Amino acid sequence: MIEFKNVSASYDGELAVLRDVSFTVGDGDFVAFVGTNGAGKSTTMRLANGLLKPTAGEVLVDGVPTTALKTSELARRIGFLFQNPDRQICCNTVREELLFGFKALGEEGPAAEERVDAIIERFGFDADAEPYLLNRGTRQLLALASIIVLAPPTIILDEPTTGLDFRECVKVMDVVRELNEGGTTVITVCHDMEVVGDFARRVIAMTGGRVVADGATFDVLRDGRVLKEAHILPPQVTEVSMILGRDEGCPEAIAQADTVPQMVAAIAQELQLEGRAAAEAAALANDVAAALSAETVASAAAVVEAKAMLGDAGADGEGGR
Ligand SMILES: Nc1ncnc2c1ncn2[C@@H]1O[C@H](COP(=O)(O)OP(=O)(O)OP(=O)(O)O)[C@@H](O)[C@H]1O
Ligand SMILES: [Mg+2]
Repeated sequence: MIEFKNVSASYDGELAVLRDVSFTVGDGDFVAFVGTNGAGKSTTMRLANGLLKPTAGEVLVDGVPTTALKTSELARRIGFLFQNPDRQICCNTVREELLFGFKALGEEGPAAEERVDAIIERFGFDADAEPYLLNRGTRQLLALASIIVLAPPTIILDEPTTGLDFRECVKVMDVVRELNEGGTTVITVCHDMEVVGDFARRVIAMTGGRVVADGATFDVLRDGRVLKEAHILPPQVTEVSMILGRDEGCPEAIAQADTVPQMVAAIAQELQLEGRAAAEAAALANDVAAALSAETVASAAAVVEAKAMLGDAGADGEGGR
């Protein structure tokens, strides 16, 4: 468990970069920190893993203040992934890189070798490859693997998907999701609200060194005040749902669909209720799903397209009521 109690922080001892930040991340949680550049997200991550100490308040890891924990103790409890994997990678081969953490903790030996072998197989790495010759996505996966091979109960990821293409992003986040399902606590900073919507269960939004929202992912991502204050856009499908929901008569399930599968199910259900053949309903719903998931970044064109499709369906439906 990680607790921030009225934490303030500064890099130069004068200018407060964090102000009175309080939150608790429980074991097994999956939290995303969102907000504009300079909001204090990376600073919060540095405080959580003990790299930075608060100027006021307390940061507690499993009930112990970070000021009272040794670096090695913190390293065992928390794995930290830097935004840039090249800040993390320092060895000549993939195998050495994955053994590095064990060496640093003085835990080399057959058990460590076994864990490294297992992770090489799981990720499909070439053990003898030179890390710096790997592509960006694979280097990011290697940096992530070098942390999770140590099996820390908590991982902190500072923008783990920035600079990755869609497939690489999904690969990294699927590993993270699997870890979380296995009980690992995940705290991540993320600028991509599609990724946040797909993976995080809770969102903490920051602006100007303060927390402006802390709640269930879609409660935060649907809150107009928070979106404005933290300068974020909701995921595309959530935005479509919010736009459609403003229309009087928009079916409740569509107005509250947070994800593409929820939207597809809501539309299919609505069209069936309105007497359309099930196959036609499913085909239309799939078209909407395709339009929505074609892009990971919100695009006005897809919103218009989805709205037009729903508009057609809605017009028919209203005629039948
Ligand atoms: N090493 C540092 N020394 C001095 N000031 C810093 C340092 N790192 C960050 N800051 C300042 O602290 C504030 C918060 O920065 P931080 O990196 O925590 O923001 P962030 O939310 O992670 O932003 P981004 O989305 O750009 O990564 C900013 O005003 C930044 O300029
Ligand atoms: Mg940052």
